[in-house]
Amino acid sequence: MNITVIGTGYVGLVSGICYAELGHTVVCVDKDSSKITALRSGLIPIYEPGLEELSARNTAAGRLRFTGDLKEAVRGTDLVVIAVGTPPLPSGEADLSYIDGAADEIADALDGYAIVAVKSTVPVGTNERVRDRIRSRTDMPFDSVSLPEFLREGSAVRDTLKPDRIVIGSDSRAAAEKVAQLHKPLTDRIMITDIRSAEMLKYASNAFLATKISFINEIANICEKVGADVTQVAEGMGYDRRIGPAFLKAGIGYGGSCFPKDTRALIQIAGHVEYDFKLLSSVVEVNRDQRLRMVQKLETIFGGDLSGKTVAVWGLAFKPETDDVREAPALEIMRNLIARGVKVKAYDPIALPNFRGLFGESGVVWCDHAMEAAAGADALCLLTEWEEFARADLQQLQSTMKQPVLIDGRNVFKEEDLAGTEFVYYSIGRPSLNQGVREEMPVLQF
Ligand code: UDX
Repeated sequence: MNITVIGTGYVGLVSGICYAELGHTVVCVDKDSSKITALRSGLIPIYEPGLEELSARNTAAGRLRFTGDLKEAVRGTDLVVIAVGTPPLPSGEADLSYIDGAADEIADALDGYAIVAVKSTVPVGTNERVRDRIRSRTDMPFDSVSLPEFLREGSAVRDTLKPDRIVIGSDSRAAAEKVAQLHKPLTDRIMITDIRSAEMLKYASNAFLATKISFINEIANICEKVGADVTQVAEGMGYDRRIGPAFLKAGIGYGGSCFPKDTRALIQIAGHVEYDFKLLSSVVEVNRDQRLRMVQKLETIFGGDLSGKTVAVWGLAFKPETDDVREAPALEIMRNLIARGVKVKAYDPIALPNFRGLFGESGVVWCDHAMEAAAGADALCLLTEWEEFARADLQQLQSTMKQPVLIDGRNVFKEEDLAGTEFVYYSIGRPSLNQGVREEMPVLQF
């Protein structure tokens, strides 16, 4: 197949490269000429394990190329995949201006039949809007397909080449079958739906996963008060096949480019049809509060006043194995610390440059090594569960800090790691592991 992918962000780039890996001829288009120049010289603008090798291999094989010329790229193609961004507007709604722009340009470039698929996460009804927009500008025949994307950052290549399912929404059976054929080598679980169901399914999936996270975070908060351990509770829950073990890791809440944006967008979508999605609104609120709990805990440990304290932050990316810092909990936590007069020293194995770009320079000492950040600190907050941190020598850490206060926002450390240390240790929903901040086990009375 000849495939044109529009937008070389996360979704577009990974999808395009993976389609080439399947043996198709792929051209990836982007308006950003510096991106195209970088991609042509083999540089991948995102950190994603395995992607650079895959791109190099397929470029060398002549199956993959990058261009800024959309018209040329769409000419003679079989499938156009729209994978442009849908950033949130201040209201939480998705901004569809890039989608509209792409639709118009595709319409003007079509020179024969093609399938136009939307992979960007878009509100229900957008595929129909794209279809109508193209139809209003061209007489060329085409079919519209919704092709939602479920890849996770950090494991995007694996998720794309071995997906749990492929969902194809279309009002043209023939077009849906063609797109299904393209994905056959990846999975047997291909589901063909109507367009609106495919669009809704994507939001519902992300909203459900976000709900699981906020749910377990609230359970963790209760565990702290009743003297139970959330990791044991989650493990036991996960053995129930109806619940499943995934996305039950308590911590400081979800971040990233999807969950925060998609949950807010779904609340808006519901609002437009006068439905108050109360559950999801609470999920979002719980997620916001969860970040602040960590700061509050620190405040309690220091007797209510953090001003003049030095706090080290380990981990800035919204999760490990990515340099993405969009909606990373570290952003808000650090802003709150600084507002309380804290001097912050921050370290991340790879996300530091991106974080600096987004956060600005306001009063943060950026460090090249984990121990350098911890040196002389009154407390350390672990915000991303990078493997490097789990392997840290806690004796060394203790001796390098001014005061041994460790806030483990991702439950990285185990009881044996802490043995022999004198840390004031706080983790999420594991009161029996906490040291120095251990609350008396309440006498439960009903
Ligand atoms: C997510 C979806 O998983 C993916 O299907 C969709 O296409 C895009 O959004 P991603 O944002 O890459 O992918 O990250 P994911 O691994 O899902 O984690 C999202 C956030 O949830 C991270 O901040 C992570 O730390 C947090 N999380 C995840 C938890 O706090 N607990 C968990 O148990 C799982």
